[in-house]
Amino acid sequence: ARADDPLITDLEAQPWTQYLGDGVDAAPYGLPSEHEAHVVRRNVAWLTADPVSSVNFTPLHELEGIITPNGLCFERHHGGVAQIAPSEWRLMINGLVERQLVFTLGDIMRFPRVTRAHFLECAANSGMEWRGAQLNGVQYTHGMIHNVMYTGVPLRHLLEEAGLKGSAQWLLPEGGDAAGMTRSLPLEKALDDCLIATHMNGERLRPEQGYPARLVVPGWEGNMWVKWIRRIEVGDRPWHHREETSKYTDLMADGTARRFTWEMDVKSVVTNPSPQAPITHGHGPTVLSGIAWSGRGAIREVHVTTDGGINWHQARIEGPSLDKSMHRFVYEFDWDGAPLLVQSRAVDSAGFVQPTKNALRKVRGVNSIYHNNGIQTWAISSEGEAENVEIS
Ligand code: MTE
Ligand code: CO
Repeated sequence: ARADDPLITDLEAQPWTQYLGDGVDAAPYGLPSEHEAHVVRRNVAWLTADPVSSVNFTPLHELEGIITPNGLCFERHHGGVAQIAPSEWRLMINGLVERQLVFTLGDIMRFPRVTRAHFLECAANSGMEWRGAQLNGVQYTHGMIHNVMYTGVPLRHLLEEAGLKGSAQWLLPEGGDAAGMTRSLPLEKALDDCLIATHMNGERLRPEQGYPARLVVPGWEGNMWVKWIRRIEVGDRPWHHREETSKYTDLMADGTARRFTWEMDVKSVVTNPSPQAPITHGHGPTVLSGIAWSGRGAIREVHVTTDGGINWHQARIEGPSLDKSMHRFVYEFDWDGAPLLVQSRAVDSAGFVQPTKNALRKVRGVNSIYHNNGIQTWAISSEGEAENVEIS
């Protein structure tokens, strides 16, 4: 900061003081400033064959706090976005129930509702990094995550309305999109904290996120959060469908595949600085900011290093610390302008510590795609440029 600046003292230099601006109805549904037009979801064209069965990524390096704005939540769909009129949406519960039931949206809105913030992380987040540093930006290495305040009906209420038979142990939620996604969900989890969500961050779900209703499975891999949900079959054993056999299983070093790795393990990443968000102000007071989350509870601590792990510092958790929700951490330091190796390491309320990538590879090998929660390293040059690297 300095004592004088013509942008303050010379009113002529500020055209916006010379005209009357737009009136109140110029944007009935508001949009961000035109100066923020670069803050968008982006995809990586070569990752998938076609955008209808693809993914784009949340611009984590442009966000602060813990809530992901609705228009920036990454999208992952296997058959494109289903366009469902709320009047034509139905949810069936059938199988091992006393009464097969079909709910309308109006029916759903008459059950007691709850509001909770939860992260959704695709199991494939950071999946491109198993064999080494690959994508140069936190948006691409970690952007298959969003954190949203959901409002919805506990699934427990709907199951109670249908009446569970004594042999009921598993559920098969099914999506109403062209992909007809299905996953086996243990009944215990459904009764514990799953929701049929209708609202995100106060407004109705966006079409991309499953409008008019999606399943919320707190802390568990994103694939299970069935969008455009249309049916829940109640059974006594898992179904072993495509998304839990050929996909969303973890190929281990010995060639066997691990199934049903539902929980998302403790993870964190520094979002600023990062390759898409270099330090532009030179040496001096510097704010490092990042996110941490765990599918097993809240985040207890985040440690940050700027010298590749020689010295670790406790970061400050800033903002709400909620169960199975994203946490924001910040670490303020005085940068001397020398190159840095920046990392963060989170510890969750269940006592799990985020591993290094090499520790993870020792157990998992390098053939995995899913569940990579290894520690991320950014190399910062003396110019403040950041690069995705690995150190041993
Ligand atoms: N539900 C349906 N019906 N169809 C889908 O393709 N994709 C799943 C899950 N639910 C999918 C779905 C996957 S793999 C993920 S990671 C999350 O939705 C992504 O949710 P989002 O698009 O809100 O980010
Ligand atoms: Co996914």
